[in-house]
Amino acid sequence: MAQAGLFITFEGSEGCGKSTQIRRLSEFLRSLEREVVVLREPGATPIGESIRDLLQYDASASAMTPEAELLLFAASRAQLVREVIRPALARGAVVLCDRFLDSTTVYQGVARALDLHEVSRINDFAVGETLPDLTLLLDLDATEGRCRASARKGPADRMEQENESFYEAVRQGYLNLATEHSGRFELIDGSRDEESVESAIREVLMERFQIQGGSDGIH
Ligand code: TMP
Repeated sequence: MAQAGLFITFEGSEGCGKSTQIRRLSEFLRSLEREVVVLREPGATPIGESIRDLLQYDASASAMTPEAELLLFAASRAQLVREVIRPALARGAVVLCDRFLDSTTVYQGVARALDLHEVSRINDFAVGETLPDLTLLLDLDATEGRCRASARKGPADRMEQENESFYEAVRQGYLNLATEHSGRFELIDGSRDEESVESAIREVLMERFQIQGGSDGIH
């Protein structure tokens, strides 16, 4: 019997450990012989990667308005949903996406203070019916997250140059969203070591989707 596709998104602010946990989870799921599609936002399609460069590194982006920024993130997502996510889910793959529409709600809606109702309408237009089955929020203190992020790579991109209060707003925005959509979100303490975070994520997968390692495999 064909397996049902599963759409899991990872959210959290810079340095919360999303990429590491996505890598660990994809290895685990592949060991269970699932097809796993790993994506990131913005990006993951040729159009999306061009939008990512424009948003993060293009010199002209310093003049970008919050409204234009919102629409560019939405454009990248609209492309990704139709070009990659829907076909992958239809094949029965597990799609792991590093950020999705909740990032827009939090970064553009809450932290940039755009009208949340408009942000929600644009998000809806971009994704249609394609919503995550599960969103893992890796929660981490804003200052700690920024320290981790700046330790691991070179020059900060445009979004990483925002100030402390922007990142406090991002963190709080995520926590509020997780409460509002508690059926879809799982809050994971991202301050713990990689192995503990990985176990917490596996536990969620076990509880929600009966996915587990060992002889039982994946159901
Ligand atoms: P990262 O995921 O590689 O850290 O970079 C993506 C950056 O873009 C990050 O600062 C969050 C930001 N972002 C938004 O502001 N809105 C969005 O909708 C998305 C997907 C990302």
